[in-house]
Amino acid sequence: MNQTHKQNVESARNIISGKIGALKPKTAIILGSGLGGLADKMSNAVIIPYQDLPGFPVLTVPGHTGEVIAGKLNGIDVISLKGRQHFYETGDAYPLKTMIRTCAALGVETLFLSNAAGSLQPQIRVGELMAISDHINYMGFNPLVGPNDDDFGPRFVPLSEAWDPELNKKLKAAAKKHGISLHEGVYIAFRGPSFETAAEIRMAQKMGASAVGMSSVPDCIIARHCGLKVVGCSCITNMGEGLSDEKLSHEHTLANAKRAAVNFEKLVMEFLAS
Ligand code: HPA
Repeated sequence: MNQTHKQNVESARNIISGKIGALKPKTAIILGSGLGGLADKMSNAVIIPYQDLPGFPVLTVPGHTGEVIAGKLNGIDVISLKGRQHFYETGDAYPLKTMIRTCAALGVETLFLSNAAGSLQPQIRVGELMAISDHINYMGFNPLVGPNDDDFGPRFVPLSEAWDPELNKKLKAAAKKHGISLHEGVYIAFRGPSFETAAEIRMAQKMGASAVGMSSVPDCIIARHCGLKVVGCSCITNMGEGLSDEKLSHEHTLANAKRAAVNFEKLVMEFLAS
């Protein structure tokens, strides 16, 4: 039987809450490319493959496993979404909406977004982290296009303080405590899947962006629509095209995300506990 979107969200919520027992996560984390290692650090982990959850994505990109993993990180209940579907895979934001709205239906209040990104500033180097203070949606697409789902949020969503300033402060304090270098800046999302040209990177710099990627912006918009607070961190895997001699590839992104992952994991653990 074909279910409505609301029915998918309710079914997914019921399946997850039936499996996670006493866990009551208030934070959900979407783990970006190459950053799934954080899920291995969870204790009491309950793993639910996306294919068991109606309306969740079917993943196609290597390095993205599709699992909901609930458990404890640093003693705090969390739910992590390991693997997401990028807009460039299908041109459809439906599965991402199901994922994020299911988290909200479970009682989650904060969505932590992470991604692998290219740097647009020479002082933000490969292997380093950047707290996302705001975004530029350069995807030529908004996930809320189409009839509004009134069950989840309003037609017109303000994006003032879309990336929550208080949570951003908390993230910076967590970094300071562990001596982790955490830059801060605007994330610009292109639709992908091709990387940007050098001219596009120069344009993005002029627009005021500090990091570039192909995700997280739709996630942020869907989350704000259904009332979740959003905080986020980019792991810098490369310099934007034209800013260095390195050849960009997905393998390169994954390898360098692993370099940034050590500090990323420390940062998230401290953020959750503080
Ligand atoms: N551009 C777009 N997406 C990315 C990049 C980049 O340079 N690095 C990692 N994801």
